[in-house]
Amino acid sequence: MTEMNNQITIYVDGEAIQAEPGAMLLDTIDKAGMGERVPRMCHHKELLPAGNCRVCVVEIDGMPNTVPSCHTPVTDGMKVSTSSEKVVATRKSVIEFMLINHPLDCLVCDQGGDCELQDMVYQFGADNSRFCEPKVEKQPEDISPLIAVNANRCIKCMRCVRFLEEISGQRELGMLNRGENCKISSFYDDKVTSKLSGNTIDVCPVGALLAKSATHAVRPWELKRTESVSPYDALGTNINIDTFANKVIKIIPRHNSGINGSWISDQDRFGFLGLEYRVEQPLVNGEVTPWEQVQEDLGRVFADNEKSTLFMVSPTATVEQMLAVENLAAAMPNAQIGYSFSQHRQIQGDTEYFPVLGMSLEQLLQSDLIIIAGVDLDQDLPVLAARLRKANCRVVMIDPQTPDAGLVKNAQSPVLLFGKAVSEHVDADQLRESLQKVFAHGKLKTGDISGGANSAGAAILQSLRSCEDSAKSFSNVVLVGDALEEIAGDKMHIISSAEHVIALMSTTTEAIKRNAHIILPIPAWTEVSGSFVNMQLNWQCFKAAIKAPDAAREIEQICAMIAKAAKVAIFRKISEDQFADKLKQIKTEQQKSWSAQC
Ligand code: SF4
Ligand code: FES
Repeated sequence: MTEMNNQITIYVDGEAIQAEPGAMLLDTIDKAGMGERVPRMCHHKELLPAGNCRVCVVEIDGMPNTVPSCHTPVTDGMKVSTSSEKVVATRKSVIEFMLINHPLDCLVCDQGGDCELQDMVYQFGADNSRFCEPKVEKQPEDISPLIAVNANRCIKCMRCVRFLEEISGQRELGMLNRGENCKISSFYDDKVTSKLSGNTIDVCPVGALLAKSATHAVRPWELKRTESVSPYDALGTNINIDTFANKVIKIIPRHNSGINGSWISDQDRFGFLGLEYRVEQPLVNGEVTPWEQVQEDLGRVFADNEKSTLFMVSPTATVEQMLAVENLAAAMPNAQIGYSFSQHRQIQGDTEYFPVLGMSLEQLLQSDLIIIAGVDLDQDLPVLAARLRKANCRVVMIDPQTPDAGLVKNAQSPVLLFGKAVSEHVDADQLRESLQKVFAHGKLKTGDISGGANSAGAAILQSLRSCEDSAKSFSNVVLVGDALEEIAGDKMHIISSAEHVIALMSTTTEAIKRNAHIILPIPAWTEVSGSFVNMQLNWQCFKAAIKAPDAAREIEQICAMIAKAAKVAIFRKISEDQFADKLKQIKTEQQKSWSAQC
């Protein structure tokens, strides 16, 4: 009896293992923990099997030739050998063939030490080469401003091509020509434009695709890895920050099936390069000023602590930094906080608005129709776009001004997601309501995908304090955190009418320099330990990957300086425990409402 619980039995090197009917042989072998017996090159766990490289060959009883295990479905009673004489000989020949034109430049290749081909040759290949003819050399091609190509190292596995096609949805790379002349190339003059393009570097098993920003920087084994969370959108993308000598060398994805899967956006990956434009020293009226003098200047600004102060806090500030500002503002007699929920929208005193998905990503992916209003997902949230592309649901992006009610007609469990064009609309609440009315459906669920990295954390903090009347103008405005540089529209008058503008930032722009009287350097996001709450209400902690420059001070330290200047004592009006309780309560309510609607 071989069939149990819909499973079938196959025999790998004489050992019986259970398999899902129809599953691929290599996946089954991996699942059974025998994966190290079978090398692979073109196979990638997130991509469809392609059967390009043939190094995963195995021998199956009754079949005349070896077969690629990644592309062969299991059948009941199948007897497989992963190391018969025939398999070993075929595998060696395939590897030898693969190496014919592959340069033996591991010593200078950035992938050396982190190369799947190098490892495979070491474990399964021959120890010498019979090939003494000159290798074919290909001209380097510029396919992207971010990705360096070394076509000579390409082993034609097509992982990069398949990634762009299957995951990013943009067919921008292909294999041109045939035989030894075939080479990886972009089809068009306008190069690779996908906002997920950097993932081709990760899927490439060799050093054919590399990050231009990290070439010839450091050997892979010298890197120190720190787990972190991307600050660039509300998804909460998990990343690893690789550093050397207190410098970020590269950022790569950290797998999290509940959030970003195996992918990150190019902004998550390369955004840290913008951190080179740092605020290097405290600046008072454009002059470099020592911190001791800054304390005196702050003393003058906050001398009359009855004067009104607005703290404008960035959505990229951590929960801990926001708590420090909350507790400082609570201690000051006439201070308010306005959180910038997205990079553009400031909401003060709105305790009802929660910029969250309202469900888990897993629940979202169960819907049969997802309507996205007011955001180009591929441009602004490419990782979420990739997750939705893989899901078995219909995704429709609409202009919130011209909704089509017919969309939800035959849907079973539609979801309406609001993007930034909705949440930043002058009459956002009304627009949301009218869209909900247009898409009237008994099971319609709604969510928000417009926030910044910690917009949900900001909303929770805001709900923990009583709502104040929003003043129209302030004597002092304190800008806290990065990503507040796009000061425009209704926020600009608050800033330009203030007597003093103090900016706490790690990087700055001309707009900030023009408007802020005091600019104080803070650590960049790679230099801060803390936590963010993402759109799914996951509270994720991370550690600083590198040390901040000596001139920078933590936001918490600057809050203490402002308290001293304003002659107030900071007390813990809101504690981390209260924050945690509130988060738990909102999550429970969200779960209940999800279950009730299903
Ligand atoms: Fe494979 Fe890399 Fe060549 Fe693309 S560039 S086909 S990922 S080896
Ligand atoms: Fe199976 Fe490439 S890994 S053919």
